[in-house]
Formats: sequence, structure tokens, C-alpha cells
Amino acid sequence: MLEHGGRLLRAARQYGIPPEDWLDLSTGINPLGWPVPEVPARVWQRLPEADDGLEAAARACYGAAHCLPVAGSQAAIQALPWLRPRGRVGVLAPGYAEHARAWREAGHEVVPVAAEALTPVPSPASGRGEFDVLVLIHPNNPTGTTFRVEDLLAWHAALAARGGWLVVDEAFMDATPAASLAAFCDRPGLVVLRSLGKFFGLAGARVGFVLAGAELLRRLAERLGPWAVAGPSRHVAARALEDAAWQQAARSRLPAAAQRLAELLGRHGLAPAGGCALFQWVCSEAAADIHGQLARRGVLTRLFDRPSSLRLGLPGGEADWARLEAALSEPRA
Ligand SMILES: Cc1ncc(COP(=O)(O)O)c(C=O)c1O
Repeated sequence: MLEHGGRLLRAARQYGIPPEDWLDLSTGINPLGWPVPEVPARVWQRLPEADDGLEAAARACYGAAHCLPVAGSQAAIQALPWLRPRGRVGVLAPGYAEHARAWREAGHEVVPVAAEALTPVPSPASGRGEFDVLVLIHPNNPTGTTFRVEDLLAWHAALAARGGWLVVDEAFMDATPAASLAAFCDRPGLVVLRSLGKFFGLAGARVGFVLAGAELLRRLAERLGPWAVAGPSRHVAARALEDAAWQQAARSRLPAAAQRLAELLGRHGLAPAGGCALFQWVCSEAAADIHGQLARRGVLTRLFDRPSSLRLGLPGGEADWARLEAALSEPRA
């Protein structure tokens, strides 16, 4: 299993600090997520049904022609590589490592691709033509790298002309919907992944969406089997996707919080190398030491070895901001 953020219970054991005493910044999950209402008893008791309004809510929210709900975008990441014959797959690196693992496990040749290597825009006859599939994470996790919509569409066109795919993981896109490819997802060979775990803060519900052409979604649905998303998760996800007022407020609040976090880190000699509305990314040779020192003060961050770096999610309330500031202010050993 690959390493991920959110392993609070393990950190609690390792550092001897009870789980409730931690400030967990190890994920990019919105700490002030969508307020979950009570789930009606019938939703727990009945089998989930496809026409309960979830798909319609997702299509409207994302501006996509087609969608398939999945048990977190992770479920789609694992299943998609099995829908193609083995081929050569370019995967953004560094990036969310589950993509490369899933394509490799399904027998594809995986080629790590640095974001800088993706420019300039290829002509249809060159550039991304070398891959059968290109997998991008947009904005990237953990670097925060973004791409221009016109470049993404050009790369997609070059791949699709040869029967290839462009897969764009938009798990962290909700704060910046204008940069999404959701509206183009009925173009053959374009696959967009969305998640309710980040912006909406509903990581535990395990809900994500695949936005793509109807035929590809049909094949994916068949592979995943019936009742892929639990009824209570479907119910809560639909209500969150319908709540445009909450989304609008979060869209203005989150970038301001991210800016505040970047400034706070900068004041403590940890100016971020990148980030997005939900996390900041700090490159430092001393990342492992800083991670350990913060952890001993009950602040959990996500440590990466390559490159040596830390990712910090957003603190929630003012007490959490003060706690992070205090932990960063203590002298480092
Ligand atoms: C970039 C990215 N994509 C996808 C996922 C999977 O998220 P989920 O399965 O909760 O939708 C993650 C989880 O951390 C992620 O960081």
C-alpha cells in the first residue's frame, strides 16, 4: 500500500499523543466541509438506485454531459487501466502516486512525466503522440501545478487522434471550476475525475465521479458492478452538489485561507514552492526533521521523500491557526 495523509491514529500511537489532541494537516481535505444533515432511515434501509437525483446533481454542478458516481475517485483510478489494452502511459510526476501504481499493476508501461516536459503545446503529429494515455493531476497534488485549458485540449486532441486517452484527475479542482475540462468530457478519449473528498470535505463518504463519454462510462460501470456507492453516501453527496450557495462561499473562503497559510509558512522560513486552495507544498532538505518536530507538538503534516518536502492542509478555526503558528514559532532543533 502506498503512503497517504490522514493516518492520524498511526501518528497518535507513534508519538504517544491521543488522536483528539492533534491538529491534522496531513491531507488536503477542507476542514470546514459541507455540513452533513441527518440521513433518513429509508436511505440506510433500501438498496441504492441510480435515478435518485445524484447523477443529475453532479452533471449540473460540474457542467458535464455524462457522469458515473464511484466510491471515491480512487475506485476509478484503480479500474480505468483495465479498460484499455496494455500500452505506454505517461503519468505526471511527482503527483498522486496511485495513478502510476494502478496503470503499472494492470500491465501498462508507465513513464513518469515532469510538468515542465509537457510544454510547449504539441502539434497533433508530435508531442503527446508518444503515449497511448497521458494522466495529469490538475491542480497537481502535492506541487499545485496547473495547466492551461487550451494546452490540455491540445494534448487531448493529439492523443485522441490515435485512439489514446487524456485522463485528468481534478480532485482539487472545485475551487477553480473555470480551469476544469468537465464541459468537454463527451469528447472521445477524455476522462475527467472529480472527488467529494477535498473541497466538500466528505472524504469519509467515499464519493467521486468519472466524467467521460457514455460508452466508456458504461464499460466502467460494468467493471465496478452494482451498488458501487453506498446509499447514505449518495444521499449526502447529492445534497452537497445541489448546495450552490455553500459552494460559492467555500470558493471565496478557501483561496483566502490558502493565501494565509502560505504567508504564515513564509514568515517562518518555509515559503511554499507551490500549492492550491486546499494545501501548500514546502520543499526543504530538512522536511523530515520539520515533520518530526511538528508531530512532536501534535501537528501532523504529510512528508514526501522525493522531492524532500511537506504538504500542509488548511487549519480550520482560529484556535487551529494559532496552534500551527505556535508550533512553527518554537525553535527548531
Ligand atoms: C489527486 C488525488 N486524486 C484522487 C484522490 C482520491 O480521492 P478520493 O478517492 O477520496 O476521491 C486523492 C486522494 O488523496 C488525490 O489526492
